[in-house]
Amino acid sequence: MDNVYHIPAMLNETIEGLNIKPEGVYVDVTFGGGGHSRAILEAGAGHLYSFDQDKDALQNAIEDERWTFVHSNFRYLRNWMDFYGVEQIDGLLADLGVSFHHFDCPERGFSFRFSAPLDMRMNQTAKRTAADIVNGYSEEELAQILWLYGELKNGRGIARNICRARAQKPIERTEDLVAAALNVRLGSLGNLGNLGELDIPTNAKKDLARLFQALRIEVNDEMGALREMLVAARDLLKPGGRIAILTYHSLEDRLVKNFLRSGNLEGEIEKDFYGNILTPFTILEKGRTACAEEVESNPRSRSAKLRVAEKKG
Ligand SMILES: C[S@@+](CC[C@H](N)C(=O)[O-])C[C@H]1O[C@@H](n2cnc3c(N)ncnc32)[C@H](O)[C@@H]1O
Repeated sequence: MDNVYHIPAMLNETIEGLNIKPEGVYVDVTFGGGGHSRAILEAGAGHLYSFDQDKDALQNAIEDERWTFVHSNFRYLRNWMDFYGVEQIDGLLADLGVSFHHFDCPERGFSFRFSAPLDMRMNQTAKRTAADIVNGYSEEELAQILWLYGELKNGRGIARNICRARAQKPIERTEDLVAAALNVRLGSLGNLGNLGELDIPTNAKKDLARLFQALRIEVNDEMGALREMLVAARDLLKPGGRIAILTYHSLEDRLVKNFLRSGNLEGEIEKDFYGNILTPFTILEKGRTACAEEVESNPRSRSAKLRVAEKKG
């Protein structure tokens, strides 16, 4: 497909937030289409390490001797920095979640709009697919994921429908999941060809988007990877170094917000004897959103929230 790989959200705001220093060492843990990475280099970074666990991102490789691509999950940030002999960094960017490319490639199974294998792995060599979860988790486990990661009010009912359908036949394709979740016949989703567009009732799209989001987060252990990366980033940042994070759903945003406020994953605020808050960060952006013009030209930026913090001296 020759669709745009990705359009970076809040590009200027993010680069401003990072306050790029000439000769500084930077990390973009979510390379994707490389829009943010290119801007970091253009702003004069000394060296940039860009991570992506999806090898498709390499089609956007940057020819610049200051640039290193790391094909890995960002949860291994610390190990990779050790490997490259980097003890401290001047800044880190994380633009979380998936790229347009993932939704626009029907065969990857991220989108409920197309008939495809139920996959959703960002790292194509990972073992667990969305089909494994949908067929293998208990009804209670599925209901919990749909509630936690999809904020689906009727998650319990959808989990029940899924379990009823899989008792008849394993759920292997996106259309099987859509039919199961909506409790409709497969035939009602149109004339299904592999990778063909499904005929989805308009009023079901919101719930299906949430169902697919929840499964994607679970398949890729997005919350677990984010936790590990945040801790490594805190420890790697130099005093005065900046961290900029773009979040796209409330659970990851709450984790990032509490981590930047407290400096720990529990979000526990420590105080000294005099009641002063002890935290490694000064907060610079508290969840800024894209301006109206950006949302108009790139509707997928509407859920982005930018948080920026500086490591204290
Ligand atoms: C929203 S896109 C980033 C887009 C990028 N900022 C740009 O300008 O094009 C997120 C990217 O991060 C990658 N990604 C998500 N979670 C990851 C993780 N835990 N480790 C490594 N890469 C990850 C995805 O494969 C995707 O390409």
